[in-house]
Amino acid sequence: MSAPKITVIGTGYLGATHAICMAVLGFDVLGVDVAQDKVDRLNAGQVPFFEPGLPELLVKALESGKLRFTTDYAEAGAFGDVHFVCVGTPQLAGSNAADLRYVESAVTALAPHLDRRVLVVGKSTVPVGTAGRLTGLLRALAPAGEQVELAWNPEFLREGFAVEDTLRPDRLVFGVESQWAQDQLHTVFAPIIEQGSPVVITDLSTAELVKVAANSFLATKISYINAMAEVCEATGADVHQLAEALSYDSRIGGRFLRPGLGFGGGCLPKDIRAFAHRAEELGVGQAVAFLHEVDAINRRRRSRTVDLVRELAGGSLRGARIAALGAAFKPDSDDIRDAPALDVARMLQEGGAKVRVYDPEALENARRAYPNLEYAHSTLEAARDADVVVLLTEWTEFREIDPAALGDVVAQRKVVDGRHALDPVAYRAAGWEYRALGRP
Ligand code: UDX
Repeated sequence: MSAPKITVIGTGYLGATHAICMAVLGFDVLGVDVAQDKVDRLNAGQVPFFEPGLPELLVKALESGKLRFTTDYAEAGAFGDVHFVCVGTPQLAGSNAADLRYVESAVTALAPHLDRRVLVVGKSTVPVGTAGRLTGLLRALAPAGEQVELAWNPEFLREGFAVEDTLRPDRLVFGVESQWAQDQLHTVFAPIIEQGSPVVITDLSTAELVKVAANSFLATKISYINAMAEVCEATGADVHQLAEALSYDSRIGGRFLRPGLGFGGGCLPKDIRAFAHRAEELGVGQAVAFLHEVDAINRRRRSRTVDLVRELAGGSLRGARIAALGAAFKPDSDDIRDAPALDVARMLQEGGAKVRVYDPEALENARRAYPNLEYAHSTLEAARDADVVVLLTEWTEFREIDPAALGDVVAQRKVVDGRHALDPVAYRAAGWEYRALGRP
C-alpha cells in the first residue's frame, strides 16, 4: 500500500499541530481551514498561536514540500485518502452542551467531494453518539456513498506539549467499524506505533467516550485536591504538604494533584459540562452528577482567591492597586479560554480594585478579551506601587523572581500565591506577607 495522503480539516491548536507533525513524519499533508488569514499565515511559515517547538517544525515541513494549507474543500477531496477532522467543539452559548456546528459544517463541506473509497477520521472532542450520526450524514452527501467510512481517533494533546504529545502519545485510540479502517489508521500512525505507543482498538462510541472520560478524571483529580484545600483552610492544615504525602502513594500519584486556582482552558471545563449534559440526555445523568460538584469546587477557587486578595488589601478592594501576574490559563500557552487568571482579574476589578496584568505570552489575547483591564510589559512594571501582588499563572519567569527585588517596587509586601508556585520561606524572609489557599 502506498502512503496515504492526508488532509487535516481545522488548523487550530489541534489541527495545525497534527498536520505539521504528520508532514514531518513523511506524509503528504494538506491542511484545510475556512479562515483565509490562518491559511495564509501557515503557508508563510507562521504558527498563529504560541506553542513551543511548533514554529521550527512548520518551517521544516514547508521546506520539505510535504505540507501546504488551503481553504478549498474540492482540493481537499481530490487530495486526501485519509481526512482528519480537527475543528473545535466549544460550549454552546447558554447551555452546557457542546456546540457541534463546526464539526457538522466540516463534514457537510467535505462530503460532496468524496468520490472514492476514503477514510474520514474524527479527532474533535464530541458527545458520545456523534460519530454514528456523522457517518449517516457523510454517506448521504458523498458521491462515493457507503464507500466512505468514518473512524474516531481522540486526541489527548496538552497545550505547551502539543508536539511531544502528538509524536510520542501515551496511547493511540482507534475507534473503527472495519478492518480496512483499522489498517488505514495503522498505516498513518505507523511511525508512532513503531516507537512503542500502545494502541487500543474500540468501537466508535468507546473512542468518543475515552476522551471525555480522561478529561473528567483529570478535572476530578484537580478538584479533589482543591476540595482538600478548603478543608485545610478550615482547620489550619497545609494542603501543600497533604498533596505531597498523597503523591508518594503510587496508586494515587502526584500529577494533576497540584492545589491552587484550579483548571481552565479550552478543554477541561467545557468537556465536563458537555459530558454531564450528554449523560442526562442518555438518562444516566446520575452516574456523572459528581461532575457538577467538580465544576463548582473549581469555580469556588476563583472567588476564594479574590477573597484572599481582599483580606490582604485590608478588607476592601475599593481603590486597592493589584498586580496580577498571569493571564493564560496555564504557563507556556497564550490561550486565555476560560482562564482562571483573567476571571480573577475581572472579579478584582469589579470589586473596585485597580488591576494591572502582566503575562509573558498572552497579553495580546487578554487585551482583546478584556480591554478594560490595565496591562504592563513586565513583572516589575505590573508590580510597581502595588498593594497586593497575586500570582495567577505559574510561568517559570514568575517562580524565579527575586522576592527582594520585587519587594523594592511594590507599595506593600503582600502576595497571594494562587498557584502554590512561590517559595513561602524566601518570601517571608524578604519581609513579605505570603498567603496561599489551603496553607497556614
Ligand atoms: C487538557 C488535557 O490534559 C489534554 O489531555 C486534553 O487533550 C486537552 O485538555 P490542556 O487544556 O492543554 O489539556 O491543559 P492541562 O495541562 O491538562 O491543564 C488544564 C488546567 O488544569 C490548567 O488550567 C492547569 O493550570 C490546571 N491544573 C493542572 C491544576 O490546576 N492542577 C494540576 O495539578 C494540573
